[in-house]
Amino acid sequence: MKQIIIILTASILLPACKSKQPETLKSVLQDKFLIGTALNLEQIYQRDTLANSVILEHFSSIVPENCMKSMFLQPKEGEFFFDDADKYVEYGEKHNLWIVGHCLVWHSQTPDWFFVDSTGKEVTRQVLLSRIKNHITTVVSRYKGRVNGWDVVNEAILEDGSWRQSPLYRIIGESFIDSAFVWANRADTNAELYYNDYNMADCGKRNEVVKLVKHLKDNNIRIDAVGMQAHVHLDYPSISEFEKSIEAFAAAGVKVMITELDMSILPRAKYNVGADISTDFEYQKELNPYVDGVPAEKDSIWTSRFLDFFDLFLKHSNTITRVTTWGVGDADSWLNNWPIPGRTDYPLLFDRNYMPKPCIDSIIGKI
Ligand code: G3I
Repeated sequence: MKQIIIILTASILLPACKSKQPETLKSVLQDKFLIGTALNLEQIYQRDTLANSVILEHFSSIVPENCMKSMFLQPKEGEFFFDDADKYVEYGEKHNLWIVGHCLVWHSQTPDWFFVDSTGKEVTRQVLLSRIKNHITTVVSRYKGRVNGWDVVNEAILEDGSWRQSPLYRIIGESFIDSAFVWANRADTNAELYYNDYNMADCGKRNEVVKLVKHLKDNNIRIDAVGMQAHVHLDYPSISEFEKSIEAFAAAGVKVMITELDMSILPRAKYNVGADISTDFEYQKELNPYVDGVPAEKDSIWTSRFLDFFDLFLKHSNTITRVTTWGVGDADSWLNNWPIPGRTDYPLLFDRNYMPKPCIDSIIGKI
């Protein structure tokens, strides 16, 4: 009898002792929204094994930080370079990740030729439209059925609700956005199509983006989601204003995505500096106070605010379908060099050694 009890006991205990897979962001959030990250070329080519293991363990979606921008994809008119973008898409397919394409039409990081003719004069409306159509059609068709969603147009509207006076707007007018979405849809009717922008908690931009979404829908032009970049700070934007924008975009009939989440811990040289990279400032010591690490008290302020945003995203997980951080580890972040080159920032979920920050356990504990 004793022997039978031992066998029974062992058979009952063993499964319970079997080590349970540790929870990760991807595993706990799978029923809430996709959790993504931006990849740089090192990560796309899997040159950093530690970063690669973090990406595959914690993230269910990816977006290319730079390699799919028009300056890299079409450096010369009619000459495309797809090696890096192909590698990126293959990486996503190999690991069954939600693959985002970023970005088809943007006033920044375009090749030098895109808005001018051979004499350097701005091209006509017709020429620019044909250049945009060719770029979108070539790129989206290449990845048809493989890229799950595209940032079709990036950053066309300003915080006060006026339109950015980019060559896209000046040469073509507001309808460049209509055309971009029409051509993206024609090239891949199944890929989701997004309008993506930063500082989307500002009411002027919020209202104009709502107007844009309604305009596209009223004209039967497919737009599936609005991307709120969420390059946020310790003191901007307010959670309540951010929430108003989530609700306004949802009410306009589109999904909402948090597309470029990072939170700088550094003092700002100027209030409300968005992600417009044309803003640049002299390097100043007092604006780079944490070269040797962040004091615990400051770190807990950062963590608590980051969790406030995650609480908001979880509250609206019926509307928010993806939350993507703009980079894997702190050392990867563009914020180390923008708006001031050579700083040490701590804006992401993993530290400079790709170790998870405490807020990851807090996020996991919330679900
Ligand atoms: O590729 C060149 C390389 O050949 C050269 O040696 C090197 C030296 O300057 O520069 C490299 O280009 C850099 C590029 O990133 C690729 O690494 C540019 O200088 C640098 O300005 C560029 O910064 C990117 C920035 O967009 C430019 O607009 C950041 O990495 C990227 O994180 C950032 O991402 C944007 C989103 O696409 C849109 N939303 C805002 C966000 C932040 O600006």
